[in-house]
Amino acid sequence: MKKVAVFASGRGSNFEQFCIAQKEGCLSGEISLLVANKAGIGAIETAQKFNVAHEIIDHKDFSNPDSYNLALLTCLEKHKISFIALAGWLRLIHQSIIEKYRNKIINIHPALLPFFGGKGMYGQHVHKAVWESGMLVSGATVHLVDAEFDRGPIILQEGIQLSHSDSPEAIASKVLKIEHTIFPKALNLLLKEKITVKNNRVIF
Ligand code: GRF
Repeated sequence: MKKVAVFASGRGSNFEQFCIAQKEGCLSGEISLLVANKAGIGAIETAQKFNVAHEIIDHKDFSNPDSYNLALLTCLEKHKISFIALAGWLRLIHQSIIEKYRNKIINIHPALLPFFGGKGMYGQHVHKAVWESGMLVSGATVHLVDAEFDRGPIILQEGIQLSHSDSPEAIASKVLKIEHTIFPKALNLLLKEKITVKNNRVIF
């Protein structure tokens, strides 16, 4: 069984969808580890509820970035992890991890990339920017991870119609429903298929 680690920094509703999919036998791999960047986050409670191991690796506990990245890599090796899903993970993934897990790390972004992505574009900032733009569509994107925020090749993307009266919070809740369907689907694609990347496009 291919082992997956989920990295989360907060509430963990996407992580919970993976756990549910696994419980229902709909996942072609095993969610075997949650990596949390701090104690007390919702994702840890979910890990305990679904009996998934968790490790807290907080960059503030390390004197320099190298020792932090090494701790992440050592943890992944210890748990024999083959794939990584970033589910609300707020830190950039270091090149050393990307190289070791090339085309095996996915991220979910709550907008239609390449729009409304990049540094500082996370959580409510994204939905507020969409609202301010006046756009009447938004959506979610699952993509492979490279060394820049929200940039790698797209695996799945789905849009949703917005209405003029939608607040940023209403947009967030519409988009979250899409996230919860496409993220487990994209993870399964990654687990089942051999994927390659050509011209910044994913090929299955
Ligand atoms: C999601 O909107 C995800 O797209 C973004 O962070 C949020 C995490 O939500 N990257 P949750 O912790 O999975 O509930």
